[in-house]
Amino acid sequence: MKYWLGIDVGTGGSRALLVDAQGDIVSGVTVAHEDIQMTQPLWAEQRPQNWWDATVGAIQDALQKVGAKGSDIAGVGLSGQMHGLVLLDADNQVVRPALIWCDQRCEEQVDWINSIAGEDAVLQQTANPVLTGFTAPKLIWVRDHDPASYEKTRKVLLPKDYVRFCLTGQFASDVSDASGTALFDVVNRRWAKKLVEQLGIDYSLLPPVVESSEVVGAVTAEASVKTGLKEGTPVVAGAGDQAAGAVGAGIVESGLVSCTIGTSGVVFSHLDKVDYDPQGRVHTFCHAVPGKWHVMGVTQAAGLSLQWFRNRFGVDVATTPKEEDVDPYTLLIKEGMRSPEGSEGLFWLPYLMGERTPHLDAQARGAWIGLTAKHTREHLVRSVIEGVAYSLKDCLAIVESLGVDVKVVRASGGGARSLSWLEVLANVFDRPIVTLSTQEGSAFGAALLGMVGSGHHESVSEACRVSISEKKRVVPTVESSREYQRRYEVFSSLYPVLRQPYRDISEL
Ligand code: XUL
Repeated sequence: MKYWLGIDVGTGGSRALLVDAQGDIVSGVTVAHEDIQMTQPLWAEQRPQNWWDATVGAIQDALQKVGAKGSDIAGVGLSGQMHGLVLLDADNQVVRPALIWCDQRCEEQVDWINSIAGEDAVLQQTANPVLTGFTAPKLIWVRDHDPASYEKTRKVLLPKDYVRFCLTGQFASDVSDASGTALFDVVNRRWAKKLVEQLGIDYSLLPPVVESSEVVGAVTAEASVKTGLKEGTPVVAGAGDQAAGAVGAGIVESGLVSCTIGTSGVVFSHLDKVDYDPQGRVHTFCHAVPGKWHVMGVTQAAGLSLQWFRNRFGVDVATTPKEEDVDPYTLLIKEGMRSPEGSEGLFWLPYLMGERTPHLDAQARGAWIGLTAKHTREHLVRSVIEGVAYSLKDCLAIVESLGVDVKVVRASGGGARSLSWLEVLANVFDRPIVTLSTQEGSAFGAALLGMVGSGHHESVSEACRVSISEKKRVVPTVESSREYQRRYEVFSSLYPVLRQPYRDISEL
């Protein structure tokens, strides 16, 4: 048998997915990562070595599950959490834990970058404003606060590119992931050399960048022993998790839009021509389709909001599932859906890790507004799901303002496995939501890129056409949708009122 392997180095875990020549999934295994280290509010770090260990375990198990041999794998594609900062020393050892995408510690460094390079010039060079979540300010933070680590650094890599290095011994990145570093010229698809120099960053720290479906290395003898893959198996550049997820959802032509509810939540649209929001509220990045771009709005804590609730307050539901094999989130959502639509006036602001779209505010914080003594856990859970949907509607609204005509939205990510969550989303968006033949998202997209790179498909579009079909359509109902539009207006009025108190809180 011939298979392709897609690897997604996520936040919660690393996933290995085997796909056959028709694009059908034959095996998938996720190995969980260690908890994110949050030693201070808004800090978030992970150990890159843990990503590699988890990836090795996931590959071994995915092969073993279907009795596949390393020689059955015709190509490998990579996807991963974006923006994270991995530093390697002269011996290619990890210098310090990686600051990951949701780390918000570097507001000062963002201001510094803007003061050195000029806010408008940065927008022109990279098509985006610098944000606290992006890689460049993280690197400058290390230079400012952990100079010993900075001094030792010889290579700066993104999370999946560290795993690529472990797998192939090659330093490389792809255009979509590099777009989220704030050091990349998104329009011309190459490092923004002038900006890199202005910031005093040694250009040789950065890896070469290629298009996502290009082969950039092969499995080494050492990685072959560890993973069970065959030495020499080609590995393509791959993509950041959002671009890879969009390939996995077939968002590779203009007019197509997806909404992913993973740890973060993303509304994503393909662009044939590069365009960016002058206020920088959504990101314009290179797509994993050669010569194309995408625009996306990001809710920092989408699935993370529910995960936080489950971890902190959901213990009884999470640890004592009544039904065999039922995911604790399924039980939690079921509980939430016992609350009436609108959660009886309770609103969740999902700013647990600050917010990107539309507020671009690292100091924003989570909040429940409208609590009364009548509210129960059920209301809290439902309000979390609704608050995340309102926040995603903020993203959708800006994507539409760029002229994208959104007729239907394709859903993916963990949240899309829940019909209840999809119904809330359809009504809040007032658009039909479609689920696809596979919900695998990023790992699937990575495998499709591997198929293109190894010559099984001629193009990313062809790979998507052959492998992806619609499964279910959830349509909004007139009444619920009308109610949710009223509530969305109230939701939209809350952040502006809280903006100053958020600042006051940060200064306490
Ligand atoms: C995209 C983003 C997230 C992370 C984690 O900009 O920050 O998609 O990659 O999933």
